[in-house]
Amino acid sequence: MRSKVVVITGAAGGIGSAIARSFLAAGYMVAVLDLHQESVDEMVSALNADTVSGYACDVTSEQGMQRIFTEVYDKLGSIDVLINNAGLQHIAPVEVFPVEKFRYMLDVMLTAPFIGIKHALPFMKQQGFGRIINMASVNGLIGFAGKAAYNSAKHGLIGLTKVTALETATDGITANAVCPGYVDTALVRNQLSDLAKNRGVPVEKVLEEVIYPLVPQKRLLQADEIAAVTLFLAGEQAAGITGQAIVIDGGYTVG
Ligand SMILES: NC(=O)c1ccc[n+]([C@@H]2O[C@H](COP(=O)([O-])OP(=O)(O)OC[C@H]3O[C@@H](n4cnc5c(N)ncnc54)[C@H](O)[C@@H]3O)[C@@H](O)[C@H]2O)c1
Repeated sequence: MRSKVVVITGAAGGIGSAIARSFLAAGYMVAVLDLHQESVDEMVSALNADTVSGYACDVTSEQGMQRIFTEVYDKLGSIDVLINNAGLQHIAPVEVFPVEKFRYMLDVMLTAPFIGIKHALPFMKQQGFGRIINMASVNGLIGFAGKAAYNSAKHGLIGLTKVTALETATDGITANAVCPGYVDTALVRNQLSDLAKNRGVPVEKVLEEVIYPLVPQKRLLQADEIAAVTLFLAGEQAAGITGQAIVIDGGYTVG
């Protein structure tokens, strides 16, 4: 049987690279996509397999995304799984949150997944199989002061997931959102070091005093834990799971 093809955006980052490694180990052909050619090249050479292809592209570019889907399809023969994972963070109160930053973050984390889904669906419908997996966040389910753009984008992404699930329900396609809590990646480490700098304390203290009180398991999640759930959702056995927001948060949203 032919190997399935997965396209992963933001694949040079912490969660994206863990996802790429998991899918590769599971026998997928993996198309890794990220912003800069250099980080894409590094990722491709780190994965070190002839079933990996790299693409540099800004996910907000509809033309760029269309071009990559066509190239992936022509080279690898299908687009079975799309993982909309690219993202970024900026923390500031609403009154001082720059409008341009807000627009850009919505563009990357909401409009870009829409563009990806829009242009992946025709391939998926034609093959009668598809898996759309949107990397949302617990910030798509609950509010968090200072994260106006991130929260808005992730709440919106869960809405987009539900609509996609309904529109593709009889096409052999599923659409789900994954909602991690705090995962140990650059995105979170940058927040931790900003907080540590502002408070004049070490990062460990920020973890103990700010983060762990929010997380019943009192730890940061590992990117591999998110990748494992993503891999499960991509499989045949997850055919009945669609339109869901799957939470992996060490208990963050439970209490
Ligand atoms: N780390 C966490 O705690 C956490 C929690 C919940 C959700 N998430 C989500 O998981 C996803 C991955 O986050 P991460 O923690 O791995 O962060 P990361 O910063 O390690 O990786 C993000 C990647 O996205 C890429 N990217 C950003 N803008 C892009 C653009 N316009 N075009 C193409 N690529 C772009 C970056 O270059 C980077 O490689 C994000 O959507 C994030 O919101 C992360």
